[in-house]
Amino acid sequence: MYADDRIRIGMKENGENVYIEPSMCCRHGLIAGATGSGKTITLKVLAESFSDMGVPVFLADVKGDLAGMCMPGQETDDMKERIERFSLTEAGFDFHGYPSVFWDIYGKKGIPLRTTISEMGPDLLATVLGLNDLQTALLNIVYKIADDQGLLLVDTKDLKAMLNYVSDNNKKFEDDYGKIAPVSIAAIVREVVALEMKGAEQFFGETAINIRDFFSTGPEGRGVINILDSSSLINDPTLYSMFMMYLLSELFETLPEVGDQAKPKFVFFFDEAHLLFNGASKDLLTKIEQVVKLIRSKGVGVYFATQNPSDIPDGVMNQLGNKIEHALHAYTPAEQKKVRAAAEGLRENPEFNTYETLMSLGTGEAVVSFLAPDGVPSLAQKVAILPPQSQMGEITESVRDSEIKSSLLYSKYAQSYDPDSAYEFLKRKGVEEEEAKEAARIAEAEQKEALKAQQAAEKEEQRALQKAEREEQRAKEKGGRAMKSAAKSVGNSVAGTVGREVGKSVGSSFGKFGKTLGGNMGASIGRGIIGTLFGGR
Ligand SMILES: Nc1ncnc2c1ncn2[C@@H]1O[C@H](COP(=O)(O)OP(=O)(O)OP(=O)(O)O)[C@@H](O)[C@H]1O
Ligand SMILES: [Mg+2]
Repeated sequence: MYADDRIRIGMKENGENVYIEPSMCCRHGLIAGATGSGKTITLKVLAESFSDMGVPVFLADVKGDLAGMCMPGQETDDMKERIERFSLTEAGFDFHGYPSVFWDIYGKKGIPLRTTISEMGPDLLATVLGLNDLQTALLNIVYKIADDQGLLLVDTKDLKAMLNYVSDNNKKFEDDYGKIAPVSIAAIVREVVALEMKGAEQFFGETAINIRDFFSTGPEGRGVINILDSSSLINDPTLYSMFMMYLLSELFETLPEVGDQAKPKFVFFFDEAHLLFNGASKDLLTKIEQVVKLIRSKGVGVYFATQNPSDIPDGVMNQLGNKIEHALHAYTPAEQKKVRAAAEGLRENPEFNTYETLMSLGTGEAVVSFLAPDGVPSLAQKVAILPPQSQMGEITESVRDSEIKSSLLYSKYAQSYDPDSAYEFLKRKGVEEEEAKEAARIAEAEQKEALKAQQAAEKEEQRALQKAEREEQRAKEKGGRAMKSAAKSVGNSVAGTVGREVGKSVGSSFGKFGKTLGGNMGASIGRGIIGTLFGGR
């Protein structure tokens, strides 16, 4: 609980209160302990204290037992005893719920929490996808091309469309962006599909989270407790780590540098943190380590709750200044080794044996060491942790539902929408190109048809012309013959007539030589002369 301007976390056996300095809370922390030893309750007590200080927090709720923070705790016999033992009434302890906002990337147990492919950025995405250096460089290029062309990368559809577009047009882009190997792009597409199959599609989309919406305060000035339901999310540790890493990176990028502060601006809790590290690749672990190291200057404290301190990689563990270690059990030499390492990670107190003590702690008890204002870790102390003021355990569906819907953020994020982004643009472009190709194909076919028809018409005309010529020729020829025959007939007729006349005349002139001779001979001679004159035979 928040008391005496500090976080009162517990009480030593001698009745002395043990505090955590708010100014040292950005030096991060560890809550470790075996199953049922009290980690989640300790995490709640810390989160409540930050909220009471006006500091908003973010919790990953893996088992649903952090959800009760929105409800007041109950005065059971056990609680009454603790309140009395810790003299909490005098310190202002009362049961109350905390202003809470429920989130869920699947949108079932909380307000949908999404981001976009652009917001996630190529480097974190490459780490999550497990890309090699070359593929990471290519992914960066694909983001750059999308940027240069004004194409939004919102969801995995957009990313796949963009990757395929760059691959299909690699020659066109190579002058400006360097070598683009379609084989490597195909490998990235396969990784994106694998990520989609794990359910990441839900996480990418609009309306994307504005991380500043985590930073609100409730009616009494208490910091809001943002509770991310992770019960489904942890089924895939890769997604869980990707998501948590994204939130941390986003906080890091969004918040200004503030240096050391009297109290944190924001505190981030990872319950069941071994899941975060188990699913993380080596690159992701390095990234987590870097962000944890740097984020403290942004006024953000990060607290990991896990079963064994050995779950936390050394690089991260070295950053954790405030340690709360609940009971640890060791039945095998390997387990004893781990407990010994945990004990050695705490500043030794000559008054007790830390190793032995860690293995003999009761539920809700811990060995703790916190950073003093001068940055020096306190001696290890055995303490009983205070009880929480809010409800322990889960909440009913109806309580959750009303909490979700009463949040002002519900109307902002409840509905998803698919904006006009890279996928839609490239699909349209593809359709337009197909339509243009089809139109060109039709035009070409029509042109061919028209050409054929023209050629056929020309042939027909040619044939008609030839026919006409032939007919003309024939007609001419026919005409010639007719003339001849006409001439012949004229000739015949004229010659006959003339011949007859001449014959007649001649015959009459030769009348005296006899009738037969004059008539026929005259006609015959006359016919011969006239026929020659008219061109006949
Ligand atoms: N500080 C405390 N005050 C009151 N009760 C406590 C406290 N710590 C633990 N308890 C009791 O012990 C139970 C188990 O604690 P908790 O759920 O925190 O364990 P855990 O270490 O988170 O277990 P798991 O690893 O299974 O998540 C609580 O439900 C509560 O009843
Ligand atoms: Mg727990």
